[in-house]
Amino acid sequence: MGWPTAMHLTAKGHSVAVVDNYLRRSLCRQENVEPLVDVPNLHQRTVIWESLSGSHIPVFIGDLTDWSFIEDVFRRFTPDGLVHYAEQPAAPYSMLNRTASMLTLRNNLETTANVIFAVKQFCPDAQIVKLGTMGEYGTPNIDIEEGWLDVDHKGRRQTFLFPRQAGSLYHTTKIMDTDLLWLYVRMWNLRVTDLMQGPVYGIFTDENRDHENLYSFLNYDELFGTVLNRFIVQAVAGHPLTVYGKGGQTRGYLNIVDTLNCVRLALENPAQKGKLRIFNQFTETFSVNQLADRVQKVASSFGLKAEIARIENPRKESEDHYYNPEHTGLLELGLEPHYLTDEVIAEMIEFALKHKDKIRPEQIFRKVKWDSDSN
Ligand SMILES: NC(=O)c1ccc[n+]([C@@H]2O[C@H](COP(=O)([O-])OP(=O)(O)OC[C@H]3O[C@@H](n4cnc5c(N)ncnc54)[C@H](O)[C@@H]3O)[C@@H](O)[C@H]2O)c1
Repeated sequence: MGWPTAMHLTAKGHSVAVVDNYLRRSLCRQENVEPLVDVPNLHQRTVIWESLSGSHIPVFIGDLTDWSFIEDVFRRFTPDGLVHYAEQPAAPYSMLNRTASMLTLRNNLETTANVIFAVKQFCPDAQIVKLGTMGEYGTPNIDIEEGWLDVDHKGRRQTFLFPRQAGSLYHTTKIMDTDLLWLYVRMWNLRVTDLMQGPVYGIFTDENRDHENLYSFLNYDELFGTVLNRFIVQAVAGHPLTVYGKGGQTRGYLNIVDTLNCVRLALENPAQKGKLRIFNQFTETFSVNQLADRVQKVASSFGLKAEIARIENPRKESEDHYYNPEHTGLLELGLEPHYLTDEVIAEMIEFALKHKDKIRPEQIFRKVKWDSDSN
């Protein structure tokens, strides 16, 4: 699981361990797109967190695609629940070239399969909470349900996984993950929650707010940065906000604080055995144009111009489409959303202004095209 989630769960009285092979950090380094603020390693983070909270978080550094490593972890720390984040998480990176595509494909499917096999072998009653993505559904011209669709066909009826049609290889690996989980739920009676999450924004959580060394990654490049975080840094750097094409691309977004609450709520209210439970994890929808306008408006109160540039879309996607996804499951479990207010945007701008000297303008936009066929 991720670092902010680990802190949040211990703050709520749970006992957790974290596993990471620093893939995210090494890919950022390889592609020369480092986060805005340096992030200490997990051992250093746990020392800081223990001094603040009294909670010790064991750290296992290794690759979850390596079965002998995962066996060792599960023997030393056998969980009641497993939060599976460990994937190459960036759609643009997955479309960069063949090497990046293969890494994404292998890494994401193998970590998911190993997690499934490890749960079966070491803790078959444990629940898996898996981070999926709203991008699995794509942008269909019908309402998006929470994971499942009742189909009436020639007088007969069955419930199927909602049709998926992803717009990148990364999102396609997430579809394949869901299919793997669904297979083994049926075969092995596992208990699984698949959280179809929208793009996350924000830096601050209840646990890290006063400690910069505990912040999560803030990437502002086009490979690993999510759109709102990127617009904020662009505004501060004096770079035009890079709206792709018409800017009507609409998605469901959520604050990082809500990500943590959603994951905890899923864990505290486990899926039944033999069930693949799916929640759509976002709190509000915005088009890219709406986000750019919001950032521009708040940035102007800081004296920042935040010009909006409509540039040729490097992706292949609908720029103007119907979008109406359901998202009641997590609210029913008790989620109290933290919406995107002007104050939230202002707080992020203040953070980026504080670190303005660290922004590397050449990282912001390198015009990576999604139709690359290079190696
Ligand atoms: N951030 C978002 O907006 C967003 C939206 C939807 C879904 N998600 C999903 O949420 C999860 C977390 O995303 P994030 O943005 O925090 O990304 P992240 O890169 O910070 O988190 C993923 C972590 O998994 C680790 N990892 C990857 N492969 C591994 C392996 N083989 N062995 C061990 N560790 C490995 C990485 O080093 C990284 O620390 C991902 O599964 C991502 O696909 C994220």
